[in-house]
Amino acid sequence: MPGGGVVGSPANTEGPLTPAASRGSSQRSSPSLERMRLEWERERKMRELEDHEKQRQHEEKQRQHEQEEKEKQRQHERQEKERERQEKERERQEKERERQHEQQEKEKQRQHELELARLRSSGAPAACILTGAWQNELGSNMTISAVNGAGQFSGLYLTAVSAAEKPILESPLNGSQHVDNLEQPTFGFTVKWSFSDSTTVFVGQCFMDDQGKETLQTMWLLRDKAKSMDDNWIATMVGTNVFTRIKEQNLGESVRSDL
Ligand code: BTN
Repeated sequence: MPGGGVVGSPANTEGPLTPAASRGSSQRSSPSLERMRLEWERERKMRELEDHEKQRQHEEKQRQHEQEEKEKQRQHERQEKERERQEKERERQEKERERQHEQQEKEKQRQHELELARLRSSGAPAACILTGAWQNELGSNMTISAVNGAGQFSGLYLTAVSAAEKPILESPLNGSQHVDNLEQPTFGFTVKWSFSDSTTVFVGQCFMDDQGKETLQTMWLLRDKAKSMDDNWIATMVGTNVFTRIKEQNLGESVRSDL
């Protein structure tokens, strides 16, 4: 207990510290000694009361402090819960936006397919859509995925020849074709070679003969990586390639898009 020590008492002059009553009736104190003893007793009680009060205040402070800490903790937990709730809500809204966007894209694609089907069945000139598998005169193969409503497509190119001294790997291509008028449309695509530092761009046009056979007449630029700018002049090659379909596809397959 704070400040709980016993202070000196008049008993110091008379022996052990005990109230007069407990010392037996045979011992009589003088009036002044008795006054001192009472005075001391009063002081001792005062000090005890003070000590109790200090202790009480100390405990009260501690209790308040604990309550404040608990309140802080509760507030922190509330804030944390609110933050989690907001985060979940944001995620939900984001998913909803994505879902709506996907739906809109699907609807666009569906409209595009309907329009193509209408064109085909109306006896209009045959449409050329690049979707499918193609081979050129060098023996290189490319597969083009579904063309979307905006005419964009992606695919894979497996070249039969290479200037790079590395094993040939299938490489990604990305491009677009005109879809506003599908009669013999022009197109362009880029191949980013996976096994070399080079890039090739192709531009061309899809032609269709009377039998409905499609031919892609293309020109390409193959850009090699020059060691320095001094070699820039020799870093680009140019050439032509003619592609023909290696697998017949019906319209339904050729316009389905996952892009
Ligand atoms: C390279 O050599 O760095 C990558 C391969 C390049 C192949 C070219 S692209 C133009 C031409 N047409 C093909 O089918 N292959 C070659």
